Amino acid sequence: MTQYPKAFIYDLDGVITDTAEFHYLAWKKLAGELGISFDRQFNERLKGISRMESLELILQLSASLLKMSNEEKVRLASKKNEFYLELAKSINEENVLPGIEDLLKNNKKHNIKIALGSASENAKNVVEKLGLISYFDYIVDATKVSKGKPDPETFTSAADYLGIPYKECIGIEDAAAGIEAINKANMFSVGVGSLEHLSQADYLVEDTSKLDFQEIMKKYSEKNS
Ligand code: BG6
Ligand code: MG
Repeated sequence: MTQYPKAFIYDLDGVITDTAEFHYLAWKKLAGELGISFDRQFNERLKGISRMESLELILQLSASLLKMSNEEKVRLASKKNEFYLELAKSINEENVLPGIEDLLKNNKKHNIKIALGSASENAKNVVEKLGLISYFDYIVDATKVSKGKPDPETFTSAADYLGIPYKECIGIEDAAAGIEAINKANMFSVGVGSLEHLSQADYLVEDTSKLDFQEIMKKYSEKNS
């Protein structure tokens, strides 16, 4: 028999909208100014983690930058955010990735709570620009957690707020750090992306257009039976 979960917790960047690409381009621009280059493979390690943690990983690519002062790091992180905001300023309702609004509608139809679990300080603003804010019962962003992904806190704090047992939650992520966080929270993990990066997901689709509500229910029920 199909079992339904009580909550869906969505990552934002790279799941609901393609801002993962904007983060990548903004980091690349900043890194370029520092004389550092990195590729998409390296960028997978930046997905899902905080702004400052990303900067630290990038600085580690150049021995000469390792001794940078904290003040300078804060300046660079805020510069990256300016690059990101410039790219993100044109976001509107048309930038919701395929399949996402359908999934949100199905959540509502089946009385499943909806939360956001994002590492971004810009999360609420982006969801508003996408015109999706009214779907969300709760938003967890970078300002609400003390430990970011891969720690489970982003996901467990959303479930705790909603009063829902972790086993009855489904988390959706495009980052390896995010899948790890969902799994550590004892929730059902749905990965969006490649097997190479997201092999730990309970269920994997290659892109959001393949996120089918009934199919996810089937996989979730199989795991819990
Ligand atoms: C995550 C992204 O959602 O948020 C990361 O996957 C990003 O790429 C992080 O660095 C922090 O975002 P922001 O908007 O606070 O710089
Ligand atoms: Mg993401």
